[in-house]
Amino acid sequence: MFQKEVYKNRRAELLEKMDSGIIIFMGNQESPMNYPSNTYHFRQDSNFLYYVGLPHPNMAMIMDADAKTCTLYGDDFEIDDIIWMGPQPKMTELAAQSAIDHTAPYGDFDKVLIGAKKAGRKIHFLPPYRAENKIKLNALLDIPFAELKAKSSTELIKAIVAQREIKTDIEIAEMEKACETGYMMQTTAMKMAKAGRYERELAGTIEGIALAGGNGVSFPVILSQNGETLHNHDHSQKLENGRLLLVDCGAENEMNYCSDYTRTMPVGGKFSDRQKAVYQIVLDANMEAIKAIKPNVLYRDIHFLSCRIIVEGLQALGLMKGNVNEAVEKGAHALFMPHGLGHQIGLDVHDMEDLGEDFVGYDEKTKRSSLFGTAYLRMGKELKTGHVVTVEPGIYFVPTLIDIWKSENKFAEFINYDEVEKYKGFGGIRIEDDILVTENGYRLLGRPIPKTIKDVEAMMA
Ligand code: GLY
Ligand code: MN
Ligand code: MN
Repeated sequence: MFQKEVYKNRRAELLEKMDSGIIIFMGNQESPMNYPSNTYHFRQDSNFLYYVGLPHPNMAMIMDADAKTCTLYGDDFEIDDIIWMGPQPKMTELAAQSAIDHTAPYGDFDKVLIGAKKAGRKIHFLPPYRAENKIKLNALLDIPFAELKAKSSTELIKAIVAQREIKTDIEIAEMEKACETGYMMQTTAMKMAKAGRYERELAGTIEGIALAGGNGVSFPVILSQNGETLHNHDHSQKLENGRLLLVDCGAENEMNYCSDYTRTMPVGGKFSDRQKAVYQIVLDANMEAIKAIKPNVLYRDIHFLSCRIIVEGLQALGLMKGNVNEAVEKGAHALFMPHGLGHQIGLDVHDMEDLGEDFVGYDEKTKRSSLFGTAYLRMGKELKTGHVVTVEPGIYFVPTLIDIWKSENKFAEFINYDEVEKYKGFGGIRIEDDILVTENGYRLLGRPIPKTIKDVEAMMA
């Protein structure tokens, strides 16, 4: 945990912004895998981590915006728990680690909510994403499951996003640790990417590195020779020379701060000329986008910059044609890059996505597009000093999407379908880094992971 003052100050800042009512933070509970006491890896809720810091299950915190008090709910371990799980600090000791003055039994949380509802007080809660917390809110507040998200507190969500999206130096230091683990994961995959091995051998090894580095992976490892499938979690194939391997992975450090990197590598260690040509376009899009990062720039404009570089590159290869700006404005590039340039990252790999993507990546000035491809841009708004974003352009050849667009003759003025046909089976390329927005520009987080053709081949040799 950080020093207790960090959490105290964060809560004070939040209370300052909230008018009235009670603000509830529900920690997460253990979740059974196949019988009650055999549980999934426990992950605390990130908002709870941000304002309380305690990574233990079965806790909740309530702030009273009128009385300006804060209470931590949870139960002390009893002897039965201690026999199986070892001695644990008392609730009062845990609360002290976060500078919280009041504690109460976990069961009292329910009573406080029921009382506040009866008294007609405003109850600020966040959109629940876990079944256990949905069931609790449904039962205590009598809100149908389908309405829980809509009835969550927009005022609270906006206040939290404004606070959490600006990363402080101590948070960046934690993210750097997660990045170092990410470096080890990616370079290990590069060294292991030899024909005859199975994808799962690489995936399992790098997941182990994430566990050894702190709190495991920040999302399930994406590692596949079918990199055209954006989030491919199938690791069953044998590696073959001549194919590309896309590895998208990241780690959580001990404090649950995340990294998220993608590298694409040639199985066996040498890119073919055709792979080099497409790879270089994605690399240019990645590096030019990173160079354009600075405060007060719309991230959507940087997304479009990378899309234009991709269109220009694909034109040079004969796959696209026509006016570059127009192709991007109309969304023709989305045949090859059907996703956004990046997202915020912090305590979550897609930071604060539980609060709602539009609250995190958009605002009053910048609204999400509904155009295929551009609509998937998670972060479109103006960059600020302290934001951390991923930069992850890609080029993919998705046979089913190519077939659909070709059958509709979609964007025929921009796409040379006869040429595109020849790239079916090529796979996909994505290159992703984690970037801090600084006062004057940007800073790459973590040790640079090889990404030029020369450096990737050197690491693999
Ligand atoms: N880890 C999925 C992504 O890069 O957003
Ligand atoms: Mn990623
Ligand atoms: Mn990402």
